[in-house]
Amino acid sequence: MQRIAVYPGSFDPVTYGHIDIVQRGRKLFDKIIVAILHNPSKQALFAIEDRLEMLRESLKEIPDVTFDSFDGLLVDYAKNVGANAILRGMRAVSDFEHEFQLALMNRKLNRDIESVFLMTGMRWFFTSSSIIKEAALFGGDISDMVPPNVYQRVKAKFQRPGK
Ligand code: PNS
Repeated sequence: MQRIAVYPGSFDPVTYGHIDIVQRGRKLFDKIIVAILHNPSKQALFAIEDRLEMLRESLKEIPDVTFDSFDGLLVDYAKNVGANAILRGMRAVSDFEHEFQLALMNRKLNRDIESVFLMTGMRWFFTSSSIIKEAALFGGDISDMVPPNVYQRVKAKFQRPGK
């Protein structure tokens, strides 16, 4: 049986923290499907297509990783694509309560799909898509937190005319 995991998220945009999780997750799973939730109620900086493109560019070196978007329940999506696990990264304590809640609800909805957590690498403990966007908005340097292609795109989003 192939071990297939869905790695779900917003990825708005992908960071080195996400890339680290996929790299390490590939040691546990034969295939990882990185799946972006289509969530009209959450204001995103990048369109889904742009986020998928950044993911594809950033993870092109890692074999057996595919990219997709989904709406509806995560466990239904996972079942439809033949995955037996949900992969999530866990940062500092602050992530724990939310992730625990998500995992328990997903388990209640489908007991055949296990949630698997990888602790975020020490280097990326304080890296998140939202903090990166906030820093970039005010001109902060985020070049060591995201791959160069993402850095360029984030910079372009926040470029002020004449700067
Ligand atoms: O990157 P994020 O925003 O922390 O990802 C959250 C995500 C996409 C994993 C979560 O919101 C999700 O799975 N949403 C789909 C709806 C669902 O199945 N929710 C959990 C059970 S109610």
